[in-house]
Amino acid sequence: MHKITPSGRERTFGEHELIVSKTDPRGLITYANSVFCRVSGYQEYELLGKPHNLVRHPDMPRGVFRLLWHRLQLGHEVFAMVVNLASNGDHYWVLAHVTPSFSPQGTLLGYHSNRRLPQPALVKEFSGLYQKLLEAERPISNPKQAAEVSMQLLLKLAGQDYDNFFFSRLNKQLQREAV
Ligand SMILES: Cc1cc2nc3c(=O)[nH]c(=O)nc-3n(C[C@H](O)[C@H](O)[C@H](O)COP(=O)(O)O)c2cc1C
Repeated sequence: MHKITPSGRERTFGEHELIVSKTDPRGLITYANSVFCRVSGYQEYELLGKPHNLVRHPDMPRGVFRLLWHRLQLGHEVFAMVVNLASNGDHYWVLAHVTPSFSPQGTLLGYHSNRRLPQPALVKEFSGLYQKLLEAERPISNPKQAAEVSMQLLLKLAGQDYDNFFFSRLNKQLQREAV
């Protein structure tokens, strides 16, 4: 995978659009909708079979993905604010809802993510929060250790209950959308 240099330009998508993808149990993409292709700048064949770190932005703290995978591996769903990197280096923020999918017998089938456009206020708040996580990660050379420290800081800054923290932000977003 070649390294893409961030352009610093933000791209956006429709308020009523959803960026959707599904993966197999290893996290390799098995489905990408047309909005995902358009916004990320990749064609469907370039996304299928790849892990989602294809769109990973260097400004995303490791701790956020540590929390995401920790929650998913416990069989829980998780909300996250994520800034992603498009194929030309542009970035786009998403409000993601990621869920594990199980067969009726309880076997893990894969994961599913729906992403919508976050309100600018949410982007501003999470940019500030992620800056603090990145600062905490920077001096730690071991990536796993950096991710763990950063995840603990995220939980601390969120007041331990990450879901309640996120839902209060989500409610604010929904209230703004209703106006
Ligand atoms: C269903 C699903 C959707 C994901 N979506 C994204 C995404 O949009 N952007 C992203 O950077 N990582 C996403 N991830 C997390 C990636 O798998 C990966 O953990 C992350 O990009 C960090 O990559 P790294 O460990 O190589 O640093 C997703 C994971 C799953 C299971």
